[in-house]
Amino acid sequence: MTLCNKKAALEQATRIVNYIEKDELTKEEKDLIVKESILNFNENVNPGWLEYRKSVSTDATFVEWTDSVDHFEDLYGNEFIDCLGGFGIFTCGHRNPEILKTVKAQLDRYALHSQELVDPLRGYLANTLAQITPGDLQYCFFTNGGAEAIEMALKLARLATGGKYYISTIGAFHGKSYGAISMGGKGAYRQDYLPMIQQVQHVEYGNAEAMETAIKNLIHVGESVAGIIIEPIQGEAGVIIPPMGYLKAVRAICDKYGVAMIVDEIQTGMGRTGTMWRCEVEDVTPDIMTYGKAFGGGIMPITGIIARPNMWGQKLIDNPWILGSPTFGGNPLACSAALSTIKFMLEHDIPKMAKEKGEYFMVKLEALKKKYPTVLKEVRGAGLLICMEFPEAEVGYEITKGLFARKVMTAGTLVNAKTVRIEPPAVLSYEKIDLVMERLEESIIDAKKEFKL
Ligand SMILES: Cc1ncc(COP(=O)(O)O)c(C=O)c1O
Repeated sequence: MTLCNKKAALEQATRIVNYIEKDELTKEEKDLIVKESILNFNENVNPGWLEYRKSVSTDATFVEWTDSVDHFEDLYGNEFIDCLGGFGIFTCGHRNPEILKTVKAQLDRYALHSQELVDPLRGYLANTLAQITPGDLQYCFFTNGGAEAIEMALKLARLATGGKYYISTIGAFHGKSYGAISMGGKGAYRQDYLPMIQQVQHVEYGNAEAMETAIKNLIHVGESVAGIIIEPIQGEAGVIIPPMGYLKAVRAICDKYGVAMIVDEIQTGMGRTGTMWRCEVEDVTPDIMTYGKAFGGGIMPITGIIARPNMWGQKLIDNPWILGSPTFGGNPLACSAALSTIKFMLEHDIPKMAKEKGEYFMVKLEALKKKYPTVLKEVRGAGLLICMEFPEAEVGYEITKGLFARKVMTAGTLVNAKTVRIEPPAVLSYEKIDLVMERLEESIIDAKKEFKL
């Protein structure tokens, strides 16, 4: 139990600030950080957290301390190749030097905004983003986390259309705030919090007809529909790629019934799947699009929505605070990171890099699937959003553990326990990809023996 002790708090904060500001830690200091981290997580974060982590890392003593480009390191300098990418944050790599330089320059000028003067970077970012997003997407609202962006998208759909219901999909993942989890497609994350937003219907993913039937039936019984929300590829459900034409068909349905089409590009966007935005593949412009994760270049958290002018009605123009007013949303530091990220992505054609490296991975993964069909059941992917499916969740955990022991970081997906993702930075070199594949094969061989597959 932690009791109130201001003197101890000051001493501890002073010691830790010193660790952060120091270039080198002593062996004793490192050992102490490991010991205290375990204690602190158990006492003040959640005792379950380390147990959960351990199932992947086999050892809770790996304490993350630094990172660079395509890997991160623990306190003792053990290097792990990053094939998780922070669930999609690190598309431009870890501490990308160009983005870091921009953010440091902004930090030396001013970090957070007055809330009252006009902050130019927010405007520049909104304008730049409008130029790289599909069709006539124009108005931006910046937030801090993905779920918060989803809240804004849901509210805007009701505000703009006057409708009440939302249609979401089975297996969907949009975050864990109340609105976002109301749209979520996995019972385990919803049950304890029921009732949530009542006006939601879930339909099968990839089935546009089911979407239309739900809308038609609601209207038939006197209800109204504000919006549909979909991921263009379901990431957390295990990289579920819908049939080609799905997004276009949903777009047509939304137009037919006057329903806002919300496309959640938080994970698929910013080059991850081989194009800047996944909805470009079907040449579809959503009414509202969300983005996040890689948007801040792996350095600053920044997320948001961008909407078409038809969504940005007079009520919202007359009262800009009606949608939301997050204190930190679109702050200068975060905007500087996002602007620098867009520059980096365009200069280096990161979407193309993700596409080519994704194809390289897929060829090798398909070969492994052929060689070990009883272990590796399926591989799916677009760009560098890839997943491997195993016969049982336990096999997937074992392979993730095997990879971690061989210094490659991966993890499962949130909604589908049988899948393990490969979601590395786009700047991961081909040599490192080959290394990952070698280590994956070794881990598969071990799992094959252990599970007698
Ligand atoms: C498609 C999608 N939407 C929303 C979110 C929620 O984002 P956050 O975790 O930043 O709230 C995620 C997170 O994984 C996501 O994959």
